[in-house]
Amino acid sequence: PGGGRVFSGIQPTGVPHLGNYLGALETWVTLQNQYPSVVYSIVDLHSITQPQEPPQLRSSILDMAASLLACGVDPERSVLFQQSQVSEHAELSWILGCLTSMPRLRHLPQWKMKSKQKNEGSVGLYTYPVLQAADILLYRSTHVPVGEDQVQHLELAQDLARIFNGRYGELFPEPRALLSATRKVKSLRDPSSKMSKSDPHAMATISITDSPDDIALKVRRAVTDFTSEVTFDPEARPGVSNLVTIHAAVARISVDEAVSQARGLDTGTYKTLVSDAVIQRLTPIREEIQRLRMDPAHLEGVLALGTRRARELAAPVLREVRQRVGL
Ligand code: ADP
Ligand code: NA
Repeated sequence: PGGGRVFSGIQPTGVPHLGNYLGALETWVTLQNQYPSVVYSIVDLHSITQPQEPPQLRSSILDMAASLLACGVDPERSVLFQQSQVSEHAELSWILGCLTSMPRLRHLPQWKMKSKQKNEGSVGLYTYPVLQAADILLYRSTHVPVGEDQVQHLELAQDLARIFNGRYGELFPEPRALLSATRKVKSLRDPSSKMSKSDPHAMATISITDSPDDIALKVRRAVTDFTSEVTFDPEARPGVSNLVTIHAAVARISVDEAVSQARGLDTGTYKTLVSDAVIQRLTPIREEIQRLRMDPAHLEGVLALGTRRARELAAPVLREVRQRVGL
């Protein structure tokens, strides 16, 4: 990579699950070593596009801060902050919203999915991708780690960078996607869908704070099939293949290596191997989250430092934007 700035955000929706960790947070940690500047935001303004309880939101923000630190986000090497504390996000979002047409937003996946679930969505939910574009452009970010589900939202940010630059002169680099190389982690109960925090099935999702006993139980109950040999074939054998994906990812080995370690084991025995690997990987993280949660003042201090540093980056960019626009 060389130069550049990475931006990414995560909603403060409780403690992350294994899919969030392997699909996103692990990458966040790695990127700290690969880019000179990384900016990570707990995007609380995004989370109020859905109904929320204030005390719950407040504690979820600190829980997410604890989770990110425990996973290895280093507030010395990255700017880690709470989105709503840097008011430039909302302000740039307004300005970019004035460069966006209604039809451009109508077909974006988030709105199509979530407004349908609710039959009616808020204006905030509709313009959510504009705020996301503001998050990225505010730091003149060059690279954005995204899941496939976010590619269309990143395309909006690219369009808005182009539109702004075209109208007001070159200011924003066009942010590029860093697509996750990790295969999606699937639900342990229904391997045709991804592991998700919104899954109502308690046994479907492994939280990064689950106890070793809970992890062992959930993996033991994971849906497999009637073949006892372990092979990797996501189409024909999604359940067993999901276990192989998880095993490879937590043990930091290739899928081929995971399958070869499973040679001679039936799926039942393999599940023990997989849950041991998950437990080994998550135990230090769980313990660190427990330790950090006991010290909310420390977490607030980390976020306050991040807020100051984020403002230092954001304020001059927004000042320039206002001037170009004539505000
Ligand atoms: P959820 O689906 O649980 O609501 P989010 O949509 O908030 O999770 O995703 C947060 C981040 O975690 C995104 O970068 C997303 O791509 C990643 N992610 C979510 N679920 C998975 C999964 N099952 N496997 C891999 N990555 C995932
Ligand atoms: Na989601």
